[in-house]
Amino acid sequence: MSEVLLILLAYLVGSVSNAVWVSKRFFRMDIREYGSGNAGATNTFRVLGPRAGTFVMIMDMIKGIIAVKLALIIPYYAEPEHLTQLINFQIGLGLAAVVGHIFPIWADFRGGKGIATLFGMVLAIQPLIALSCVGVFLLMLFLTRYVSLSSILASVAFPILLIFIFREQELFYKLFAIAIALLVILTHQKNIGRLLNGSENKVPLFRNRRR
Ligand code: G3P
Repeated sequence: MSEVLLILLAYLVGSVSNAVWVSKRFFRMDIREYGSGNAGATNTFRVLGPRAGTFVMIMDMIKGIIAVKLALIIPYYAEPEHLTQLINFQIGLGLAAVVGHIFPIWADFRGGKGIATLFGMVLAIQPLIALSCVGVFLLMLFLTRYVSLSSILASVAFPILLIFIFREQELFYKLFAIAIALLVILTHQKNIGRLLNGSENKVPLFRNRRR
């Protein structure tokens, strides 16, 4: 199977909109008409509760992992001396899945913002870096209680971590990380507008739980 076909397959995997499917199948509604209107895990948590939200988050992450693993179908990429080529191809596959998540062919091209799928792909390629970004996300979520702001800051931390801490990474990977940060900022434009005018949703945590 050629690289192009696998990229297409990764896009189709990413296009499986778990939030839309779960909301329609189990709740007889379309998640995109409620809450923030986003077909992602955060809005599913918000509108349909933690069980549905957790399920969607895990399934969206798995899409990123599956997309990256598709590379190993081609024997060339499974050979240890082709590690750099493997990572470059995996980045392409993961991005195709993220594009599918944001613009799903199976759900009228109206999907989510790509965070969970992005996390799944980076976790599959560079687990330590992915977990460092999760650390940034959780710290920001604890401090601000905004999922969107925490997602943006974690994605901005991604290239910063690569440039200053995990410095041995390839230039291509660093450029990819910068592109990811820009993509996340782009997909969060409405959230940024709401953050600026003070109307963004906060996650109820700890002592603020009852608010
Ligand atoms: O991962 C998406 C999150 O950062 C924002 O989601 O529903 O608040 O727009 P939402």
